[in-house]
Amino acid sequence: MRIIVTGGSGFIGTNFIRYIINKYPDYKVLNIDSLTYSGNKNNLTDLESNSNYEFIEEDICNVEAMNKIVQEGDVVINFAAESHVDNSIKNPQIFIKTNVIGTHSILEAARKNKAKLFLQISTDEVYGSLNFEQDSSNETHILNPSSPYSGSKAAAEMVCMGNIRTFKQPIIITRSSNNFGPYQYPEKVIPLFLTNLFENKKVPVYGDGKNIRDWIYVEDNCSAIDTIIHKGTPGEIYNIGGGNEISNLELTKEILKSCKKPETEIEYVEDRLGHDLRYSLDASKTNALGWEPKHKFEEALKLTVEWYKNNKEWWEPLKK
Ligand SMILES: NC(=O)c1ccc[n+]([C@@H]2O[C@H](COP(=O)([O-])OP(=O)(O)OC[C@H]3O[C@@H](n4cnc5c(N)ncnc54)[C@H](O)[C@@H]3O)[C@@H](O)[C@H]2O)c1
Repeated sequence: MRIIVTGGSGFIGTNFIRYIINKYPDYKVLNIDSLTYSGNKNNLTDLESNSNYEFIEEDICNVEAMNKIVQEGDVVINFAAESHVDNSIKNPQIFIKTNVIGTHSILEAARKNKAKLFLQISTDEVYGSLNFEQDSSNETHILNPSSPYSGSKAAAEMVCMGNIRTFKQPIIITRSSNNFGPYQYPEKVIPLFLTNLFENKKVPVYGDGKNIRDWIYVEDNCSAIDTIIHKGTPGEIYNIGGGNEISNLELTKEILKSCKKPETEIEYVEDRLGHDLRYSLDASKTNALGWEPKHKFEEALKLTVEWYKNNKEWWEPLKK
């Protein structure tokens, strides 16, 4: 099988490519990435000598290039995206270009070239904000995005839905909760806080820190995607949740504890515009395929702290 991974030089894509190459010695993986600020070719330098791995530097918005690259029978997994909510508030246009138009470009290449499956990587943020009392969202929950980022991801899903219905294109959508682990760009909360603490800086908490997120270790998201491409039903949507709902303040305290730093290192800053209160996923549909997360939150956080401690040469240049 050949798997095309777009955005494979970013955080989740890098972890996913490693996961697949290690688990399936007979699979080929082609990484298409335009190497924006969050893409780092060096993440996978050690795979460059592996004949099962190939990298092409290209923009998914390039329709002609996508049409040439995708071949009959490929499984295409679209991770490529602008992914940082704060950036989407400052500069929404690039989010529409990459996340909506780019998705359409690679989706159409998959359709025209008869790809076996197109997997659209989406997010729990498309459901919008839940209050503390509401049940977790299942896949039929209304989409109610709150930021230009989640709006663009919801729009990309709608583009996929149109192709499912009209062309009967084999497409699956996954919506995962917040990932954490190695190779995450230090603009996102866990690597930002860890690296700030290593640099003896304070950690900025938005608002009162009561906002709740569900956290999943990136390797568990990779194993869920693996399960879904092999056992999922085309045309369906699958939530991928970690089952670890905690407030941003609790998360911050866990991070401080893991770095042996006092709570006086917290600096409360002005809240993010449109900041969603709570995300919570009902992942029972994905669990029914035989998948569940393997990592406990505390243990996965420890692994993450160790990785950032041992890989300063990876994140220090990014912070400069
Ligand atoms: N990180 C999370 O917690 C999370 C949670 C749910 C869903 N997601 C989704 O997972 C996917 C990957 O997220 P991530 O955290 O790894 O993001 P990331 O920002 O770390 O990586 C994105 C990658 O896409 C590449 N890219 C951007 N624009 C491109 C373009 N036009 N053409 C080709 N490549 C391009 C970048 O160079 C980068 O390598 C995204 O679709 C995101 O919406 C992420």
